[in-house]
Amino acid sequence: MSNENIKNQIEKIKKKKNAVILAHSYQNLEIDEVADFTGDSLQLSRLAASTNSDIIVFCGVYFMAETAKILSPKKKVLLPNVKSGCRMADMIDLNQIKTFKKAHPNIPVVCYVNSTAEVKSESDVCVTSSNALKVVKNLGAKEILFVPDTYLGTWVSEKLPDVNIITYPGYCPTHLNIMAEDIINKKEENPNAIVLAHPECHKSVVELADFAGSTTQIMDYVFKSNEKEFIIATEKGVVDRLSRDLPQKKFILASKRAVCPNMKRHYLEDVLTCLVEEKYEIDVDENLAKKALMSIERMFELCK
Ligand code: 13P
Ligand code: SF4
Repeated sequence: MSNENIKNQIEKIKKKKNAVILAHSYQNLEIDEVADFTGDSLQLSRLAASTNSDIIVFCGVYFMAETAKILSPKKKVLLPNVKSGCRMADMIDLNQIKTFKKAHPNIPVVCYVNSTAEVKSESDVCVTSSNALKVVKNLGAKEILFVPDTYLGTWVSEKLPDVNIITYPGYCPTHLNIMAEDIINKKEENPNAIVLAHPECHKSVVELADFAGSTTQIMDYVFKSNEKEFIIATEKGVVDRLSRDLPQKKFILASKRAVCPNMKRHYLEDVLTCLVEEKYEIDVDENLAKKALMSIERMFELCK
């Protein structure tokens, strides 16, 4: 079947079943052609909470679909390819967070949204890369535990020196594929380029950046800027979208190894099958979901 045919079928079934398709900005570009909304983790979780649809098809990774289910427990949440986990989220499980908390008792736990429902249920508040600074600042604690991303935690800690942040040693293997050396080399080849980095990158990369922020914040920066050349230190999907939307500007991917294999698992055929067969359905235990929801709702309150 041609892509045009697949897209037409998706549109028809989507209407018939009152479904909405959410897509993260690291997805294969073709997914945008059927997505109702695209964005970063925070925007997509807000959309998941507010949609009136009966079905949410989440073109992203497992924790994103799980977060959508926690926010919209009555809706059917589907992930087109069930193998699309997040390698960072899988670095900490329930036992590991309990052990981490025991080693540092009575300290509030801040979890990055890139975590499982179990980890969220053991946390006081959740953050995304776009609101981590605001949420931690507004939390008002002198000391926090930050899980699972040690690099995002370190970035927050440098921006908020009054808060002592103890980070869990998790990381994103895709962002760690970007080396400081890559930025230095690309900057030598493109001396006028502005460097934009995701805070999941290694500290040595973020230090070389002109701006660090979430995927949407990086894209917004480019749209508002008068500059013409940008070195992008995050997953390739951001460069694909910027090159598509702003062909008059030059976008240089910091490293060709900055590709998240799990984000790239969904294709148009998978979205169609997912809608037709209503699989793979993501479920979260009700009690666990209630506890996890508290940390997400606290995030929404603290980042107003
Ligand atoms: P954003 O919240 O910036 O979209 O990041 C999600 C992610 O998985 C980054 O690796
Ligand atoms: Fe997880 Fe990294 Fe992929 Fe984002 S890029 S989904 S943090 S593995």
